[in-house]
Amino acid sequence: MPHKAAILSSGGDSPGINAAIWAAAQRLEAAGWAVLGVQGGYAGLLRGDLIPVSSVQLLRHARRGGTTLGTSRVTDFGAQLDVATRQLEQRGVTGLMVLGGNGSLRGASALERAGVRVIGLPATIDNDVAGSDDSIGFDSAVALGLQLLDNLRDTLESLPRLGALETLGGDTGFLAQQIGIIGGADALLLPERPVSADDLEFQIRAALARQGFALIVASEGYPQLEHTLAELELRVEQRLRFSRPSHAMRGGNPSAHDRALAWRIGTTGADALIAGQTGLIAAQGGRAVRLEFTDLPRQKALNLLP
Ligand code: F6P
Repeated sequence: MPHKAAILSSGGDSPGINAAIWAAAQRLEAAGWAVLGVQGGYAGLLRGDLIPVSSVQLLRHARRGGTTLGTSRVTDFGAQLDVATRQLEQRGVTGLMVLGGNGSLRGASALERAGVRVIGLPATIDNDVAGSDDSIGFDSAVALGLQLLDNLRDTLESLPRLGALETLGGDTGFLAQQIGIIGGADALLLPERPVSADDLEFQIRAALARQGFALIVASEGYPQLEHTLAELELRVEQRLRFSRPSHAMRGGNPSAHDRALAWRIGTTGADALIAGQTGLIAAQGGRAVRLEFTDLPRQKALNLLP
């Protein structure tokens, strides 16, 4: 009986997941493993929806955004670990690979504690996985967000106004911070760093005085974001043009950086499964390293960019 791996993507999809799945499957096949794809994330695992996949077939999707396996959000997965482990046992799965963000990888860690050999890969545009300084899809979302910010700047520079771009990011500010700093935003609204109404007004008035317009980048999880922006409008007596690309920020083909990251992390994850290891394959300083789930902090801290 050959060894059998199952690969699953969970939570929000991100550009580069397909590339990682392909890279991992190719490496596993080369080692003689059979590979199953779990359809629809943890919900699919609970249903036992696992189908054989091949790297030849997966390569067709490697350049595309989204996840070809489908995904889901299962809020009470922790209460159904016995169902999940039974499904894996019934299909003869010897190693599971999970791609996702912080919440999804907590599910992977719970499965490990339930006795499953599991490798987690950070794959989320939020870049919120503790222990990893990069995640599959982050660079693509930053590139897209930066383009939107640059477009907004074109029009604000021509017809001077107050403008704001909202990014995804859940309750974290990594995505907004990266886009805002690189793109030269005049104010950043990050959930981890609330600013007072007075400070925000001061920053925006200074930008208006300096250049005639002001550009804000806000993460969707900023506390009372709409109220904050409405109050700012009143204080500076200017209407604010609000751009909210929402889930359109999560799609699109992966950047070259994300495809390279997906390859590096996907093949390292496959090697770890083949070696019988478990844990998170993190990106640290451009390298893929394996960390024990138990060593990871619960939340990743937001640090200012160097
Ligand atoms: O996957 C992460 C993320 O894209 C967050 O940035 C966002 O807040 C969330 O997913 C949106 O979730 P859903 O797709 O379930 O609306």
